[in-house]
Amino acid sequence: MTHIDPAIGIDAARALFHDELAQAGSDAALQALRTRWVGRKGSWVAAFMDAVGKAAPAEKRALGQGANTLKREVEAALETRLAALTATRRPAGAVDVTLPGRRPRLGHRHPLSLVRDQVMEVFSRLGYQVLEGPEIEDDYHNFEALNMPEEHPARDMQDTLYLATPLAFALAEAPAFASAAPDEPSAEASARAKAGASARPPQPLTLLRTHTSAMQIRHMERHDPPVRLVAIGPVYRRDNLDLTHTPMFHQVEGLVVGRGITLADLKGTLTSMAAALFGAQQEVRFRPSFFPYTEPSAEVDIRCIRCDGAGCAICKQTGWLEILGSGMVHPAVFEACGYDPAEVTGFAFGMGIERVALLKWNVDDIRLFYENDLRFLEQFPL
Ligand code: DAH
Repeated sequence: MTHIDPAIGIDAARALFHDELAQAGSDAALQALRTRWVGRKGSWVAAFMDAVGKAAPAEKRALGQGANTLKREVEAALETRLAALTATRRPAGAVDVTLPGRRPRLGHRHPLSLVRDQVMEVFSRLGYQVLEGPEIEDDYHNFEALNMPEEHPARDMQDTLYLATPLAFALAEAPAFASAAPDEPSAEASARAKAGASARPPQPLTLLRTHTSAMQIRHMERHDPPVRLVAIGPVYRRDNLDLTHTPMFHQVEGLVVGRGITLADLKGTLTSMAAALFGAQQEVRFRPSFFPYTEPSAEVDIRCIRCDGAGCAICKQTGWLEILGSGMVHPAVFEACGYDPAEVTGFAFGMGIERVALLKWNVDDIRLFYENDLRFLEQFPL
């Protein structure tokens, strides 16, 4: 800012003031200009007045008039400018209705919920019952009734999370045993359940269920055939966290029981589920496998969705991706539930929800599903 020096003369000072005024856009800037130009001490006008005092008598009058005129002009110009500034300002507390609104942030559905809901929709449309069930189980329902006797390796402490203190209460009465379509067991089924219960020692709840297959038993021991259900929910395994494992994940279990249910029903149902989840063109194959609770058993693979079968790192060069286990219900399972294997047959399957989500959206790290990082979650549909 130009140093105050009355030697430049009134006219040059006036021009300077108007330059400075043109730059001043706020109340504070105008206030600073007022102090600099017409303040009592140290201002331009004060300096001119001093100069009048020191001037030769012949010059005093003209110089004094000039200083006074400059003072009045500066004051008037500051006033005008201040008024103009005030006129353009919104009154305090006013709302500017022309501003665009703040966009509300809409949440996105979690990828695991998207898969779960899609599976539920497919099976509800086919007339299946959708169940939830207890996450804390006894080893009768999780293993034994599924034809996995005591020495079965899956029951090992290495693989299964056992409770430090077993819980002893009847699960049928436990609030956690919820069903989306609650219904009472038939008299016959109740009698069967009682007979079954007395035929085995009372079972305290000792473990976190390792699969949703336990729900097959829980349903059949309380209900007569025919059965058409899907059970969806968390399951627990003694796995360390890595790219493809978490100690908790989700499964959907399916069970269909009735007269004359065949492997063809299993194939048709699972093929149409794969089409619903991965697209109508999706190719599937059924590969012989083994599960203690089904005979025969099959794993279902889909054509690799990354390389379309050419072979890549995701499908380990096989061209196929495994998505679920399935099979025809083993007669021993029917017997444990009081169903007559000579009368009814059925198929069952179990599929990992995370696995489907990983493949569907080409996600390479399962941990992303649990970290709640919005940058990840925002990429899924609303
Ligand atoms: N329980 C199996 C698992 O956790 C999946 C499974 C396989 C479920 C075959 C079934 C079945 O109902 O029939 O890997």
